[in-house]
Amino acid sequence: MIRQTREDGTDIFETEIDGETIQWDNGLTYARHLQTAQLLSAQVPVSDKPDEMLFIIMHQTMELWIKLVLHEGRLVLDAIRGDRLAAAGKGLDRISTIQRHMIQSWEVLATLTPHDFLTFRGFLRRASGFQSQQYRELEYLLGNKRGDMMIVHKDDAEATARLRAAFEAPSLYDELLRLLARRGFDIPADRLNRDWTRPYEASDAVEDAWLKIYTDVDAYWDLYTLAEKITALEYYFQEWRFKHMKTVARVIGHKPGTGGSSGVNYLVKALDLSFFPELWSMRTRMAAPREGGDYGPGAGAEA
Ligand code: HEM
Repeated sequence: MIRQTREDGTDIFETEIDGETIQWDNGLTYARHLQTAQLLSAQVPVSDKPDEMLFIIMHQTMELWIKLVLHEGRLVLDAIRGDRLAAAGKGLDRISTIQRHMIQSWEVLATLTPHDFLTFRGFLRRASGFQSQQYRELEYLLGNKRGDMMIVHKDDAEATARLRAAFEAPSLYDELLRLLARRGFDIPADRLNRDWTRPYEASDAVEDAWLKIYTDVDAYWDLYTLAEKITALEYYFQEWRFKHMKTVARVIGHKPGTGGSSGVNYLVKALDLSFFPELWSMRTRMAAPREGGDYGPGAGAEA
């Protein structure tokens, strides 16, 4: 075993195992870098029921992915603010890939049968995803400004300050509309500067702007491809919500949630929410391009 001592006094070791050279550096090990001791000691069941471990790890992995989506989301906002659309697009691609992974991961939780869950549900008391600070922050970043939800964090000053900052800041869509205005689109002044804590209200002028971009895609290629990536983000967010709702229905039926809501009925309501409304409504008004052929009554009505 070879040992070198670095200038900072830490040791580097080297040995041969199975014909491979293996090295490790005591100054920065895998465990120290990734804080595996803290990470792997954070699964603390409140019951002695074996299926609670799956429940804990599912939530914790989702929280980790939400942390990365928030991190990437803030970078995307910065990039849009700085007119760096290629960088924004790259970030959005990463977010969508994470979202698809999160959606797929519901399959693991679906192995939790109603019986499995009932063995430990009573031990969870009032704990619920309702109280996920990161999820709420992500909703604020994307534009679902429901300030009343902050109340569950009222005893945590740090969480409240963080949530309030996201609540009071322009959302991803607000920044996108400011970008459209910088690019010469006629976005109403009350959409460019407003009380960011209020939910966004759809506007005909904004829909017109998107329609123009989606009609002349060659002229607005960067905005058009960015808008499609933003649409994908909402599409996957809704798919996550749907899979959550369906998993909940599969596990608890129509029982109320541990957080006190009506359960599945509460989750179904969120499926009607839209972060970027005109990006969806504009599609109904789209007409086929000239070479697209006649696809029936109504075609070309808006051309
Ligand atoms: C068996 C597993 C699960 C069940 C039965 C369940 C059930 C529920 C229910 C009934 C609600 C509505 C609030 C309430 O009254 O409690 C809720 C909300 C929520 N759950 Fe779950 N959940 C499960 C797994 C998960 C997982 C793995 C996550 C991942 C982080 C999660 C995140 C959330 C979030 C963020 C909300 C708030 C949604 C909103 O306010 O729009 N849940 N859950």
